[in-house]
Amino acid sequence: MADQHFLDEVSKRRTFAIISHPDAGKTTITEKVLLFGRAIQSAGTVKGRGSNAHAKSDWMDMEKERGISITTSVMQFPYNECLVNLLDTPGHEDFSEDTYRTLTAVDSCLMVIDAAKGVEARTRKLMEVTRLRDTPIVTFMNKLDRDIRDPMDLLDEVENELKMMCAPITWPIGCGKLFKGVYHIHNDETLLYSTGQGHKIQDLRVVKGLNNPELDEAVGEELAEQLREELELVMGASNEFDQELFLAGELTPVYFGTALGNFGVDHMLDALTQWAPAPMPRETHDRQVEATEEKFSGFVFKIQANMDPKHRDRIAFMRVVSGTYKQGMKMNHVRLGKQISISDAVTFMAGDRSRAEEAFAGDIIGLHNHGTIQIGDTFTQGENLKFSGIPNFAPELFRRIRLKDPLRQKQLLKGLVQLSEEGAVQVFRPMQNNDLIVGAVGVLQFDVVVARLKAEYNVEAIYENINVATARWVQAEEGKKFEEFKRKSEANLALDGGDNLTYIAPTMVNLNLAKERYPEVEFRATREH
Ligand code: G4P
Repeated sequence: MADQHFLDEVSKRRTFAIISHPDAGKTTITEKVLLFGRAIQSAGTVKGRGSNAHAKSDWMDMEKERGISITTSVMQFPYNECLVNLLDTPGHEDFSEDTYRTLTAVDSCLMVIDAAKGVEARTRKLMEVTRLRDTPIVTFMNKLDRDIRDPMDLLDEVENELKMMCAPITWPIGCGKLFKGVYHIHNDETLLYSTGQGHKIQDLRVVKGLNNPELDEAVGEELAEQLREELELVMGASNEFDQELFLAGELTPVYFGTALGNFGVDHMLDALTQWAPAPMPRETHDRQVEATEEKFSGFVFKIQANMDPKHRDRIAFMRVVSGTYKQGMKMNHVRLGKQISISDAVTFMAGDRSRAEEAFAGDIIGLHNHGTIQIGDTFTQGENLKFSGIPNFAPELFRRIRLKDPLRQKQLLKGLVQLSEEGAVQVFRPMQNNDLIVGAVGVLQFDVVVARLKAEYNVEAIYENINVATARWVQAEEGKKFEEFKRKSEANLALDGGDNLTYIAPTMVNLNLAKERYPEVEFRATREH
């Protein structure tokens, strides 16, 4: 029997991330969430604005932005009876791989939608990723202090486009200048909004009951009447909240509010702590690992460099899947088959990097990485397990990278391999020549790589265009056919940073021909770490 203290600690964890389209309000909500978590004293302090605005900022800016956003890449704080872990995801789509992998480390998500715009492209894309694991989603319709679209249409859009049933928990009263607050359907009370209070936790005025004349007085007769009519419609047309459907990722509770005005964010946090799941089990190649197993296990989903300009180290972010981490414990680094002693893992309590004395299933800890840890690595207390489902995505953009000073080829290769282990970029070495090809999902990644090669490896590199349309990881049963494929396609084959065989296609037509010619070979657009 697992000990009760341990079970209590695990069951109060809630680990989630925010998914949204740029500008929908993720940063603003994060700030308010931290305010409610008492992690910051007053909103307006988390990070500089506009970090998503410039697609191409210079390195210093990028460093600065990263520096700031990195301290908030995992935030832990207490809320209600729970201990919440909020994982930040990069806002810029050029770093979407990082986001996808972060989503493998959470148990639920908050989806923020700009209520003036509805469901946007990036939200759609991220939802595809959460769907792979049926992650439960709480929805927040933001920016009610502006003119928004018809709330009913917004729900329809979520249902039709994201294929998820909506269960409104609150319902807005007016919007824009006329935004008065929300009616909380479950609590049968109206919470009244007042402007200019966004920086703090407010004592809201609450009116009990829908037919309370006080409501008419507070929001005006017209809006009160409109609310009653709309609610009648809504109750008829939408779904009731259902815990099981929510946990299956099929139904989302929906909240309305304004992050800027700090209104509604706490309702959503209540939902998250009350309904979202405690740490969920994770699949390995052999078996499922339950969070409540006493033996420690975890996997690395992200590696980040230069967390603190003073340290210039690299941190591997590990999701603790089961058991307890204790300072100084020994872990089995499964890929290397080695016992390592972890004495100085870090936690990210409220943006502060402090030493973790203890962490439980559901938590994220940071391990100092001196090049021995890769994304996807599993750590256990003994058993040789390998967690599955942490993806690499085939890059879509390619450049040849070349040195200004040819004598530093070794450092270049080392730098590129390490950066590819971090998932910052991918590197391919063709079988037939000495080129180095860098592949990225977003164009900004190229800039980051050159800047980091210079800063961290003292290597000056430049890019040249190269005729590559796409890359696919190839796999097949060893045998005559595969040998023939490897021989005849050698001009198109390369090894990636982890020595995996990759097919580099100059055109999509070429790729399709290769697929037709060698049906026994698998050409994969994603690769598991
Ligand atoms: P993101 O991280 O999802 O990209 O969004 P972020 O929070 O940075 O918000 C994007 C813009 O939307 C910001 O304005 C922010 O102030 C604004 N915003 C967020 N929530 C609300 C809301 O509830 N109501 C209104 N009216 N605006 C909201 P910005 O002009 O880019 O920055 P700033 O100059 O206003 O700080």
